[in-house]
Amino acid sequence: MLLKHGLVSIIITVIATTTCSSQNTLTTDTVKLKAFNILVNRCNFCHATKKKQDVFTLLNMDSLARAINEQVFVKKKMPKGRKNRLNSLELELLQTWLARTKYKVEK
Ligand code: HEC
Repeated sequence: MLLKHGLVSIIITVIATTTCSSQNTLTTDTVKLKAFNILVNRCNFCHATKKKQDVFTLLNMDSLARAINEQVFVKKKMPKGRKNRLNSLELELLQTWLARTKYKVEK
């Protein structure tokens, strides 16, 4: 499991650094990829097992930003389960990404 996640991170980082040409794009996309990494590791493992829950992808995460903000920061219902709490770094990263999407983060 850990090895698999590590590999996913490495692949994402390689994609991030090779596909972005301008500095600005690089910064924005790196934030998004880090947020995506959290959604994959901390959310999808569970969502993927239940019907009707969104499995987050790079393509759908922006349009789900509002729902993610609502569940994680406003209602604080996600990630479900006491063992699945996000650490402060993960929360901060998600907020940084949310602030960069069109959806404004409320606290
Ligand atoms: C252990 C299981 C589990 C984990 C981990 C989990 N979820 Fe969920 N999620 C659910 C379930 C079950 C629902 C359906 C609503 C409910 O039962 O509360 C849901 C619903 C949602 C919804 C609303 C419906 C949708 O799919 O748009 C959002 C948004 C959401 N989760 C975001 C997240 C995010 C973001 C994370 C990770 C930071 C996360 N969840 C982690 C189980 C989980």
